Amino acid sequence: MSRQVRKKAFFRLGVRVSTYSAAFSGLTVFLTVWFLSDLEIKNSLFIAAIVSVLIWTITYLVLHVVVYRRLKTIEQLTKNISRRRFEEYDDITTVYNDEVDILTTQLIKSSRTVEREIQRLNRIENYRKEFIGDISHELKTPIFAIQGFIETLLNGALEDKEVNRSFLKKAMRNVNRLIYLTKDLMEISKLETGELKSEKEEFYLYETVFDVIESLNHKAGKDHVRLVLVEFDKNLRVKADKNQIKQILINLVENGIKYNVAGGKVEISVEDYDKMPGKVQISVLDTGMGIDEADLPRVTERFFRVDKSRSRERGGTGLGLAIVKHIIEAHGEQLFYESTINKGSVFTFTLRKMESEPVA
Ligand SMILES: Nc1ncnc2c1ncn2[C@@H]1O[C@H](COP(=O)(O)OP(=O)(O)OP(=O)(O)O)[C@@H](O)[C@H]1O
Ligand SMILES: [Mg+2]
Repeated sequence: MSRQVRKKAFFRLGVRVSTYSAAFSGLTVFLTVWFLSDLEIKNSLFIAAIVSVLIWTITYLVLHVVVYRRLKTIEQLTKNISRRRFEEYDDITTVYNDEVDILTTQLIKSSRTVEREIQRLNRIENYRKEFIGDISHELKTPIFAIQGFIETLLNGALEDKEVNRSFLKKAMRNVNRLIYLTKDLMEISKLETGELKSEKEEFYLYETVFDVIESLNHKAGKDHVRLVLVEFDKNLRVKADKNQIKQILINLVENGIKYNVAGGKVEISVEDYDKMPGKVQISVLDTGMGIDEADLPRVTERFFRVDKSRSRERGGTGLGLAIVKHIIEAHGEQLFYESTINKGSVFTFTLRKMESEPVA
């Protein structure tokens, strides 16, 4: 904090208090001397005047040393807040612990709160700007595709039954992409701004994993990929947001299917996490195309796709793993993954395990 103190003509509060003290002391001295001594009124007035000047000077100097500099610090602090300049306050000392010090400390606290709030709002604002840029980019592709198909149909292709059907199917595929995209966008926006909170409850993990596998079996079958569940304790209970954990599993298993090869498999396993007692690790392993080492650190970034055209062809927008990462962070858990090109990938996350009790 800059201690540059602009010199003003007078310390006005000092002048006022010193004048009151000097006037009161002068009057007291005058009356005392006049009543109690034989001095003439003129001499009594003279002594009172000297005492007044002395009292005025001493009071002014004391106030200047004790109060003036600290008031200037407070003034500078308030100016800094209104100018949004937040600097280090470490050199401000508050040793007297009196009202002025209490005020200074409060002001520093308020200043820090304002600073944090401004930084938070700036972060959200930057995030929104970047997000809107990304969204408009992502929306353009399916919208232009739909426009192209409709235009071709309107320009005569409507008469041809074969073309007509295939174009409408393609348009529908793009509409579906838009629907998924908007759903994921809303979710990630809420997760990234912290609007979506995790509601933790205790639940049986086996049931949830089983539900996910069942719901994706058909999709896997179409891609000739096998879904394998490595059996684990059916009584195992975890504490987490059940729907969000389901969402994580769906996103990971879907990736395992989507980026796999015909005849490949996706395997889900649950084990105790040996590095931390009281935690379990859930792994989704696939025997697919894998991810290049250079791309691996970026896969959880919003809208990141290793191969945009390949991903788009498979209906991917690059939000799945970003959502996974945010949910896991919101739970205070860990996500780790490794991958080998043409061999496959494994994504693992941890969850807090509860003391098990038998299923009713
Ligand atoms: N199991 C995997 N094997 C190979 N590549 C993967 C795997 N999982 C993710 N990737 C790569 O990481 C990218 C990001 O994955 P993410 O799930 O975030 O997006 P997406 O699958 O493209 O789209 P979305 O999940 O939003 O539908 C993918 O585009 C893909 O290139
Ligand atoms: Mg995905």
